[in-house]
Parts: sequence; structure tokens; C-alpha cells
Amino acid sequence: MSLNPASQPLVLEAHGIVKELGEGAGRIMAVKGVDIALKSGELTLLMGPSGSGKTTLLSILGCILSPTAGTVSIAGTPTAGLKPEALAMLRRTHIGYIFQSYNLFPTLTAVENVRIALDVAGVTGAVAIQKAEQALRDVGLGHKFTSYPAHLSGGEKQRVAVARAIASAPSIVLADEPTAALDSENGHGVMRLLAQIAREQNRSILVVTHDSRTLMYADRVIHIEDGKIVSEEHPAKAPVTELSGKAILAAAPVAVAADNTPAEKPRRKSAPQRTKEPAEAKILTDLIQKRKSNA
Ligand SMILES: Nc1ncnc2c1ncn2[C@@H]1O[C@H](COP(=O)(O)OP(=O)(O)OP(=O)(O)O)[C@@H](O)[C@H]1O
Ligand SMILES: [Mg+2]
Repeated sequence: MSLNPASQPLVLEAHGIVKELGEGAGRIMAVKGVDIALKSGELTLLMGPSGSGKTTLLSILGCILSPTAGTVSIAGTPTAGLKPEALAMLRRTHIGYIFQSYNLFPTLTAVENVRIALDVAGVTGAVAIQKAEQALRDVGLGHKFTSYPAHLSGGEKQRVAVARAIASAPSIVLADEPTAALDSENGHGVMRLLAQIAREQNRSILVVTHDSRTLMYADRVIHIEDGKIVSEEHPAKAPVTELSGKAILAAAPVAVAADNTPAEKPRRKSAPQRTKEPAEAKILTDLIQKRKSNA
């Protein structure tokens, strides 16, 4: 059953977000006073040029980075003043993350890769296996439980990453350029999947992207430039089929763009290159520590 986003409660609210990064003369204001609210059942795109502050803002909304100024509330709980353990618990309970580069553990099967995220959220044993398998079925990978990442295609790897993000039923899913490494068909497949998860499982999904192929799946598109939100629009959406307990991709119609090339990434002048996004690094650390402690 699809729910109307207009009638949904806010699951995330952020006001007056400012973020300064770097040291000394290199210090910059990456986010310059952003207000944003996310509702259940809605797929929102955050679009803007390279260096405009998308990943930084996503990391703040995902409670990975703390803002220099401003407030964030997750499911009605203000994050300001929370101890690190309480913040980590809020993050694990309410937020799932998806990254461009999948971040799957190469030595773990698809089910194990999803299970480890459930582990971090405190779900273990037979229940964890059952939830991991269901999440994989939901993304159309019911036949790949025991496959290792090296034996999965790029689109399949990203679907395992989507399963990992949704397995513990977080109210918010944050995705940083989830289609950037995928070809047209797989890019559409992942976006269609995220749109269906938002509507049918009533999650709030925020996707950072440069990729105009994603526009047709969005309820809202927020444009950011130079650390500030400059506009918001509500584009026409592609129809999606209901989950109905079936594999989403198997049930969904395939829409393939005429242009099979990945979207060109506009670069902001003099944006320094970094090796690892902060949110990605933090989540990886969480997962690796958990894995070590289970070994
Ligand atoms: N740790 C850091 N130290 C200093 N500057 C940083 C740091 N992280 C990001 N920045 C700068 O902050 C600005 C915003 O970076 P951010 O990664 O949020 O951009 P983005 O919109 O995600 O870009 P892209 O599309 O290339 O991923 C950029 O100018 C970047 O160089
Ligand atoms: Mg980025």
C-alpha cells in the first residue's frame, strides 16, 4: 500500500546547519545555513556541483559529523548534547547508509554482508539471518545469498548494499551517489528500488546525486550550491509497482535511458580531492570493529 507523503510525520529536521572544515588558512565553510526536513514515504534528491557541500550535509544529517552551528533532530530526538554512545544508537536505529563504492566485505557472502549491519544494530542469530535473507529477497537477490562480492555484478553489489541499508528497517536511508558507478540499466534499477522502498516500506530516502537519470524517481529535488540550498522542485515521477512481497526488481518495469553513459560530474573550481568521505569512513569503522569483536 502506498502512503501519501504529505500526511507523513517528519523523521528528520535540521535547522540553520553550518559546517566549517579544514584548518588555518585552509578552513572553509562547506555548509552555510541549511534548513531541511525529511518525511516518511518520500524520496528526496540532493543535487549540486562537486564541492557544493552535499556529502558534508549528508554526513551531518546522518549524525556522522556534528554541525558547527544549527540543530538536527532524528525521529523527534535532538542530537545536540547526546553522548557518543547515545548518538551511535540513534544512528544505528534510525539510519541506513548506501555509498557509491558499495563497501562490501570481499570475504563475506551477500547474506553475511547484510548480517553484519544487523549485528551493529543489535540483531543477531537466527533472526538476523532471516532478516538478511528477506532484505536480499526484497532487492531481487534471493538467488545470491551465498555469493561473494567478486562474483556479483556492479548492480548486484549495489543491491546488496541497499539490502544492508534497509535490513534493520531504519526510518531514514541516506545514499551518497548510489548510481555513479553503475551503467544506465543498473542505475535505473537501483533508483527504482529506492523509490519503491520509500513508498512501500514508508522510509524516508535522501539521495545525493549528480545523475539526471535519477530525477524521474524523486518526490522532491533540492538543489545546493556553494553550501546553500538554492531551490526545490517536485518533478513528475515514474510509476512504480508495489512490492507485494516479491523481488522488487523482478516485479518492476525496466526503464532504460537512451544515453547509456554515466552522467558527467560538473566540478567546482579548486575543490580539493579527498580519499574517503567522512560518513563512509565512519560506517566502515563501525562495521570493522564489530567484525573484529565477533571474530
Ligand atoms: N575534511 C575536510 N577538510 C577541508 N575541506 C573539506 C573537507 N571535507 C570537505 N571539504 C571541502 O568542503 C566542500 C564540500 O565538500 P563535499 O565533499 O561536501 O562536496 P560534495 O558536494 O559532496 O562534492 P562531490 O560532488 O565532489 O562529492 C569542498 O570544497 C571540499 O573540498
Ligand atoms: Mg560528495
